[in-house]
Amino acid sequence: MAQKPPSSAPIALVTGASHGIGYEVARQLAQRGMTVVLTARDDARGTTAATQLNDAGLDVRFMTLNIADDASVQQAAAQLAQDFSHLDVLVNNAATNFDYGDTVLEVDLAQVRETFETNLLGTWRVTRAFLPLLRQSAHGRIVNVGSGAGTFGAPEGMLANFVPNLPAYTLSKLALNGLTLKMAAELQGTGILVNSVCPGTTASSPEMESIPGARPVEQGAASIVWAALLPDDGPTGGFFRDGQPLPW
Ligand SMILES: NC(=O)c1ccc[n+]([C@@H]2O[C@H](COP(=O)([O-])OP(=O)(O)OC[C@H]3O[C@@H](n4cnc5c(N)ncnc54)[C@H](OP(=O)(O)O)[C@@H]3O)[C@@H](O)[C@H]2O)c1
Repeated sequence: MAQKPPSSAPIALVTGASHGIGYEVARQLAQRGMTVVLTARDDARGTTAATQLNDAGLDVRFMTLNIADDASVQQAAAQLAQDFSHLDVLVNNAATNFDYGDTVLEVDLAQVRETFETNLLGTWRVTRAFLPLLRQSAHGRIVNVGSGAGTFGAPEGMLANFVPNLPAYTLSKLALNGLTLKMAAELQGTGILVNSVCPGTTASSPEMESIPGARPVEQGAASIVWAALLPDDGPTGGFFRDGQPLPW
């Protein structure tokens, strides 16, 4: 990757950004003048995505990052530290296993473990690995991409209302919101703001496009970008969609 960018350019890193909402978050942040490190676990897809954004005149660099793999995360963090002096925005977007149709009573626990390895532990390990660089920023922002589905209180919440679907996904996102709260508390006073954001039901794939009311990827991504660009006196330890608090 990368030469050092002009020192005036804020730097953002987005996980799982070769397509879908992550790609659009990378695009929108770069359009705001940021240098964006677009990461993906698949080199070919990631390179193609970054090249597309470069062709549109945006400062986007590709870096390999598999958030479920310790070695990959450590390597990426070391690489970033070589190329940049700090990191301003970390968007933990990558997630896996929309296990629609599974149930808590029958789901394969190996699959549940894999889901948590990515959605919860992956976000956790990535954040810890990049924290030294975030601490070098005057305006560090961490955005964990959550889901209203993994809540008790949001309208589409699948916990309190006994909807059986999506056992691994919803519970991993519930835990992710807990992680956001714990991280925000531990980072209070550092200037680093940590929030969860739900993009809303978003047409990020042909499967999601078929869901009635699914909104455009641009809109889902904008919900996340809002939290990445919060002012210094913005909230921390919150859960939001479209800049509005969402029930846990
Ligand atoms: N779409 C919605 O309606 C909706 C609603 C609420 C929340 N969300 C959340 O929004 C985020 C983006 O969703 P999306 O709809 O854009 O989903 P998506 O199209 O499935 O994108 C997920 C991304 O995460 C990547 N990923 C998965 N495991 C990874 C790993 N171990 N390391 C690195 N990258 C990995 C995927 O890469 P590969 O291509 O290599 O698999 C993919 O690029 C997710 O956190 C999702 O839970 C989405």
